[in-house]
Amino acid sequence: MAPRKIIIDTDPGQDDAVAILLALASPEDIEVLGITCVAGNVPLELTARNARIVCELAGKTDIKVFAGCDAPLERPLVTAEHVHGKTGLDGPTLPEPRMPLAEEHAVAFIVETLRDAAPGTVTLCPLGPLTNIARALQKAPDIADRIAGIVLMGGAYFEVGNITPTAEFNIYVDPEAAAIVFGSGVPITVMPLDVTHKALVTKARNDAFRALGTPVGAAVAEMTDFFERFDKEKYGSNGAPLHDPCVTAYLIRPDLFSGRHVNVEIETGSDLTLGMTVADWWGVTDRAPNATFIGEIDADGFFALLTERLARL
Ligand code: RIB
Ligand code: CA
Repeated sequence: MAPRKIIIDTDPGQDDAVAILLALASPEDIEVLGITCVAGNVPLELTARNARIVCELAGKTDIKVFAGCDAPLERPLVTAEHVHGKTGLDGPTLPEPRMPLAEEHAVAFIVETLRDAAPGTVTLCPLGPLTNIARALQKAPDIADRIAGIVLMGGAYFEVGNITPTAEFNIYVDPEAAAIVFGSGVPITVMPLDVTHKALVTKARNDAFRALGTPVGAAVAEMTDFFERFDKEKYGSNGAPLHDPCVTAYLIRPDLFSGRHVNVEIETGSDLTLGMTVADWWGVTDRAPNATFIGEIDADGFFALLTERLARL
């Protein structure tokens, strides 16, 4: 089967970095048409820097990296240096990027790519706030019917929030953008905290990254060593949750995941629950299902895939 053509929209972020590395290590499954950067974990200048650092770490300097929106649609930017460090990629010491940013704005690239490609052949993989995706849908409503699907990391239901008691960070930063995306009619698969909190980098799993004996293995282990302190302290968890790589792994091995096709609405009006993904898991409303909400993962299978693929870089 031909590799799936994707655009990764991202706010690196250590977990974004691992998601990008997994995609770049899997050419038989995934063709990365471009990486579009958005403000999120850290401001846009840093997410655009970090995405290029990751491409160079993978030895894939031919990948086009685009800068996109530097703030949410209607709200001031909220960042997460408390989780990812001041650079957004704290942990390993990696060289400043030498590959240039692409000239074009990320939103223009998304629209143009979808209009140029055959309908239903390009998948969007947002790993951060949904600002770029929403802007593209606002600018070019015609692309909605051309998108094969959106596989995103974001939201939470049974697991509740990580930035507020009810909201997950990516959705919380730009809830208006999320409402546009979830209301677009595009087939959506959601990797919420409900599943990503089951993809924990235990010591044994991180030792396996380090044991690869490669610059990529070492960098991923050092990113995890840094990234995990927040979740260990907050949740007492047994390692860092690898949120964003769940998106890439789903593209390669969807059988490692399971979920339910339900209605998911985004709270944009209440200060108390702003950014909450209200998933009608038990079908108690007549709201039409609009997303496949993933809740389960074969974590051992996930880490076996990830480690095997990272070894290729
Ligand atoms: O809530 C986790 C998400 O927020 C991940 O995508 C992480 O990178 C941050 O963007
Ligand atoms: Ca992210």
